[in-house]
Parts: sequence; structure tokens; C-alpha cells
Amino acid sequence: MPSRPLSSRPQSLRPLPIRLQPFFLRSCTVARWAGALALGASALANAQSAPDGQQISTQGANGAPACVTCHGAKGEGNAVAGFPHLAGMGAAYLAEQLEAMANGSRVSPVMAATAKALNPAQRQAVAQYYAQLPSPLNIDRLAATAQPPAKADDTGAWLANRGAWDKNVPACNQCHGPGGIGVGANFPSLAGQPAAYIAGQLRAWRQGQRPPGPLGLMPAVATRLTDAEIDAVSAYYAGLPKAADLLAAQATPAAGAKP
Ligand code: HEC
Ligand code: HEC
Repeated sequence: MPSRPLSSRPQSLRPLPIRLQPFFLRSCTVARWAGALALGASALANAQSAPDGQQISTQGANGAPACVTCHGAKGEGNAVAGFPHLAGMGAAYLAEQLEAMANGSRVSPVMAATAKALNPAQRQAVAQYYAQLPSPLNIDRLAATAQPPAKADDTGAWLANRGAWDKNVPACNQCHGPGGIGVGANFPSLAGQPAAYIAGQLRAWRQGQRPPGPLGLMPAVATRLTDAEIDAVSAYYAGLPKAADLLAAQATPAAGAKP
């Protein structure tokens, strides 16, 4: 029995995805049955193992709200509301953070329920989706902010660019990149993240409310900083994109001016 042409199918079956249609509507030879079964199985396996990260970001999943409502349409974050940017950060880093917020080792009242609602494959997919979005940061401009010598009385800039070697704190930029643009998969970007968010993470490490991360580098840094230093360096990175724009405007006074 050859499969019936599409047009003769009952109206109600047409919108169904192929794998949900009764097998009698498909082919009849043994080989084709086997093929149909295998296809159906792999399509199902695919649907389960490869959730759509973009769809999770715009629609949420399993009761988790859409990520875009807080993290922005392009993963650019929301500085005023204190929501961090996600776009362009390492996929493994983002997936690990979701996992940590789901299992409670990273304490986050805002994210816990959302992270828990997603299964591991969904967390991977949405992390990968955000990782491949372009970073909201102007990398070249930010890198240029690392050039002018930081003033010693500007605690935030000094810590970021020079560190505090008297207490074994390397410059943040040594790991987070010039201008805090982030480096590779393991060192997240800091520039433009909300000040309250940055300070909150540093305090979380001091209080054991965030997993130590690679080599325990950040707990070692955070426990050596005073409260005033945490606030200063957080404000510095939060304001860096604007400072970088200003610096660029000063460096090229003719830009935008009428000839
Ligand atoms: C109600 C607002 C809100 C929604 C919705 C939301 N987030 Fe978040 N997200 C936050 C806040 C706030 C933080 C900062 C966490 C903290 O301070 O504890 C955060 C942090 C994160 C982080 C850690 C970022 C980093 O740099 O370490 C990831 C990853 C993340 N969210 C992913 C998601 C994903 C994926 C979704 C959608 C499934 C989502 N978020 C939905 C508010 C939200
Ligand atoms: C020796 C390397 C190193 C130095 C120096 C360093 N960091 Fe980090 N930082 C890391 C690593 C690695 C991570 C990722 C941690 C993780 O995966 O949980 C990180 C993560 C962070 C985060 C979390 C970002 C996010 O999106 O949640 C903040 C905030 C941070 N660092 C601030 C700082 C500040 C401020 C300084 C300087 C005072 C600094 N770091 C110096 C290695 C470093």
C-alpha cells in the first residue's frame, strides 16, 4: 500500500508534525517502516537532546520566565535594574552559573527558580545561545581605557589596572582583559555590568555563597578586598563603557565635528 498523497489526508491530521502522524499514513514496505521508525525515534531524541536556546530566551520553558524580560532582547542586560549582560560570555561559564544557581551553591534569590526549572540540556542550549550573541561591549574603546596611567587616589581604576600587590591582589584586568572585556571562556567580562551586581558577586565569594570557580581565584581576590575597595572597583567597571566613550571622543575631537 503506497502512502496516501498529502491532499487526501484527513484535514485534522495535516498540521501534525510528521512523527506524530499515525504510521498507516506513512509507507508500508518493511524497509520504509523501519526507516520511518528510526526517523521518528531520532527526531524525538533530537527534540529532547537539543532544546532551542533562542526559544527559551524569548519564551521561557517549563514555567521559567523568558530571559529577555530581564537580560534584554540581545542579552545586553539592564544596568539600571541591575541585570547582568550575558551576550558574548563563555558558554561553559554561563552553563556552570545556571547549574550553580539551580543547585543553590550560587545563592541567587532572583535566578534560583528559573535555573531550577530548566533541565541540564536546556541550560546548555540557552548558555550556548547567549555565548554566540555579539558582546554589547565596544572592545577596542574599552581596551583603550587600560592605557592611561591610573591615579593612585582612584581606588577602582587602580585595582583594575594595577592591583594591590601589598596584599597579593593582581590587577583585575590581568585576568579579565584590558578594560574588563573578558578573556576566553573562563574570565567573564566585567565592563558595563551593574555596580550592585559586581559588588554582590564579590561579597558572595567572601561569604561562601558562590562556588569558588577555576582554581579558587576569585575567593582569593575577594577576601583580600575591603568593602570600600569592592564598592570602588564595582563602580569603576560599571561606568567603564561611558568612560571609554568619553575617552574616545577626547582622543578624536574632530570626529563628528563639521568640516
Ligand atoms: C526577573 C529577572 C530575570 C529573569 C527573568 C532571568 N534572569 Fe538571569 N539574572 C537575573 C539577575 C538579577 C541576575 C544576577 C544574579 C544575582 O544577583 O543573584 C541574573 C544572573 C544570571 C546569570 C549569571 C550571569 C553571570 O555573569 O554570572 C545567568 C547565566 C542568567 N541569569 C541566565 C538567565 C537565563 C538563561 C534566563 C532565562 C531562562 C534568565 N537568566 C532569566 C535576573 C533574571
Ligand atoms: C587571577 C585571575 C583573576 C583576577 C586577578 C581577578 N579575577 Fe575576577 N574572575 C576570575 C575568574 C576565573 C572568574 C570566573 C569565576 C567562575 O567561573 O565562577 C572571575 C569572575 C569574576 C566576577 C563574576 C562575573 C560575573 O559575570 O558574575 C567578578 C564580579 C569578578 N571576577 C571581579 C573581579 C575584580 C573586581 C577583580 C580585581 C579586584 C578580579 N575579578 C580579579 C579570575 C580573576
